[in-house]
Amino acid sequence: MSTSMSFQVALNFEDGITRFVECRPDETVAEASYKARINIPLDCRDGACGTCKSLCESGRYDGGDYIDEALTGDEAASGYCLPCQMTPHSDLVLRIPSSSAAAKTAAATHTATVVTIERHSATTVEFVLDVDDRDALDFLPGQYVNIAVPGTDQTRSYSFSSGPGRRQASFLVRIVAGGAMSGYLTEGARVGDRVGFTGPVGSFYLRELARPALLLAGGTGLAPLLSMLEDLARKPPVHPVRLLYGVTTDQDLVHLDTLESYVDAIPGFSFDHCVADPASTARNKGFVTGLMDAGTLHDGDADVYLCGPPAMVEAVRGHISSLGVSPANFHYEKFTPAAPRETAETAESAEAA
Ligand code: FES
Repeated sequence: MSTSMSFQVALNFEDGITRFVECRPDETVAEASYKARINIPLDCRDGACGTCKSLCESGRYDGGDYIDEALTGDEAASGYCLPCQMTPHSDLVLRIPSSSAAAKTAAATHTATVVTIERHSATTVEFVLDVDDRDALDFLPGQYVNIAVPGTDQTRSYSFSSGPGRRQASFLVRIVAGGAMSGYLTEGARVGDRVGFTGPVGSFYLRELARPALLLAGGTGLAPLLSMLEDLARKPPVHPVRLLYGVTTDQDLVHLDTLESYVDAIPGFSFDHCVADPASTARNKGFVTGLMDAGTLHDGDADVYLCGPPAMVEAVRGHISSLGVSPANFHYEKFTPAAPRETAETAESAEAA
């Protein structure tokens, strides 16, 4: 194995801020982080104290040498690892048990140029950015950035609707009256405008699929799921993936053609959509919960990813518990147009450890 080759390690901090470091197969994740001036929690650096213990959510690695007091066999079996000892065998995603500030790091900042402003309908606009230093921008599919709205002192959070593998970055925006980004996009925005943003941020990202996945989108909550699907099209999953997309009115429906194209491009992918408005021409009227039964959740053997407004998150949680099913993992992101994103999860296996 060539020592010039290296893997990419995503360090996801408790505040959602994510930094990426290059790590050679012959160096530990702690060494690679230190070189990148990121102070992940460390004490003994010898596999003895357990201070650095983190959860590896994706990738393969050699755990190195350590004693049981630092990491038990059960912990290792459920994905916990010691960055001071571990060396990568592939790209990795690690959840680091500290804030980014405690690790003396922060979200990366980027600048970009607006290249496309596409008005899908009265309620939805998509804009595309050409990022200046694209090679320095890494993110996990599902994550968001905080974008400084041009001409204002406001910042708004938007999930990438494009996958990490694409050069240009795209975002879906719901137009709301009086909204800062809405005002900019519908009135002032021009191709060529300069835009700054920080990130990536968020724990709502696609994990390696270990079982069937159910993706649930409410309105422009479709964006992070489109990013995940683009990634799945590059790395075909071995488990079925179903997406249910719910909107309020017909004009909120976007990217049905994109979803249709993924039915062919992603093995095992299927989707359906519904519209709450009784006047809709959609086949399914109502909410995504009307399209979900215990079978949709594979009787619990499914990972659920939900991005939508708070009321939808609550409705889906209530519906799932009324079905008497508890999914293996439930990742969700709540959004409201003018507030920071709130991401969370119920990961049975992680919480039990
Ligand atoms: Fe002590 Fe890693 S720092 S086990």
